[in-house]
Order: sequence, then structure tokens, then C-alpha cells
Amino acid sequence: MRRPIIAGNWKMNNTKAQTYALLNDLIPLVKDAEAEVVICVPYTSIWAAGEAIKGTNIHLGAENVHWAEKGAFTGEISADMLKEQGVEYVIIGHSERRQYFGETDQTVNMRVKAALAHGLKPIICVGETLEEREGGKVEEVLVRQTTEAFRDIDKSELENIVIAYEPVWAIGTGKTATAQDANDTIAIVRGTMAKLYGEKNAEERVRIQYGGSMNPKNAKELMAMPQIDGGLIGGASLKAVDFSQVVKYNG
Ligand code: PGA
Repeated sequence: MRRPIIAGNWKMNNTKAQTYALLNDLIPLVKDAEAEVVICVPYTSIWAAGEAIKGTNIHLGAENVHWAEKGAFTGEISADMLKEQGVEYVIIGHSERRQYFGETDQTVNMRVKAALAHGLKPIICVGETLEEREGGKVEEVLVRQTTEAFRDIDKSELENIVIAYEPVWAIGTGKTATAQDANDTIAIVRGTMAKLYGEKNAEERVRIQYGGSMNPKNAKELMAMPQIDGGLIGGASLKAVDFSQVVKYNG
């Protein structure tokens, strides 16, 4: 019903030459994958990545998008610009953007709207910090982030949006949420979507990934959980073999 989706988030890694090399290794390893495969790459690698994956089952994504059509926003990139390069998915509201670059729930919502208006598919990141978790605020944070991200988004768009639940304390730390914990927390996010769009839509049309130190060793167990529809993969997406093993989590 909900097709699994595994997306790599390269973050600030890979030059053009490294992009070609990594993708040339990756393409044959994932060519018969059952899951949908996405790579989200730095702006400077978009052209090369698009060329390398042409005609393959790998989908192209970017790591952010600005909300304006164009204008005086030095250093930013618009949805139109991404679309023209063949980009299909775009990560929005990653915790690193929220932590280091002033991203707020409101700017996340603005970016989501701009992406959808131009036919890009947002991968919206939500997740609590360690402090919020220890303070018993997980539900409050996730309900707020999810509700604000989806403000004024019509239910007809649900298939075009992916949510990534990424506990901030698990990103790049080697600490993974247990599969059960990830599952239960994602249930909170899906429950929020049910409140916003109805139970049936939330069950059938909303894909929710887990992200945070997901790797070849833990992917199978995480993906076996009923609430987890995929993964957003940082570190392990930078090695072709590791990423392919996550993509083919059933071995
Ligand atoms: P990680 O990153 O897999 O390196 O923890 C995940 C992410 O930030 O999306």
C-alpha cells in the first residue's frame, strides 16, 4: 500500500568527480530494488548526478529550496531552478537547517508550499532534540512541527510528500532509536496526520521514513516495523555498497 522509499542525504559531501564515481558504483547495485531509491545531493552535484542516473531507477533530490520565485536572496536556489535540472524530491526542514541556519516551522511551511507549487516532492524532516526527549516533550514537538509544516497543504498533495522522522540525537552519532521506539514515535506523527487529514488518508497515503544512523546492520529491523515506510540515510549513503544494502534491506 505504501511503497518503501529509501533516500540518501549526501549533505555537504561529494565533488562532481566524486558524484560520478559514487553513482557509477551504485547504479548496478540497486537496479532491481523493490524500494523507491532517491539521492539528495548538493546543488553543485545536481547536474552531474542527473546525467549519471538518467534511465536508471534512481530518483534525483536536492537538500533545500527557497520559497520565493526569484529575487534578492543571495546564495539561495528556487524551486523552478531545481525543477529545470530534473530534480524530483527536495529535503525541507532538516534538523541541521533548523539548528545551524535558522530554519523555523514557518519557513519550513513556506518552502513546502513553494516546492509543491512547482511540482517538487518535499521530504519534510521532523524530530526532537535530546533535551526535548529527556524533558518529555517528544509528542508536543512532533505534533507542532508536523502541524505547522502542513499548514494550508491540501490533502490532494499527500502522495507527493514524504515525512522523515529523525530524532536529532540519532543523526550522525551512531546512536539509533530502537526499532520499537522509532515505530512508536512515528505513530505519533501519523496520528497527527490523521487528525489533519483523516485516518484513512494518514494510513494509506502518507509515507513516513525513519532517519538517524540507519545503516546496513539495522535497516532490516527498522524496515520490518509497520509504521516505518523508509529511511533517510546520511553517512551510509556516501558508500555505494552500504547504501545499496540499506536500499535492499531484506538482503
Ligand atoms: P545519518 O544522517 O544517517 O548520518 O545519521 C541522517 C540524516 O541526517 O538525514
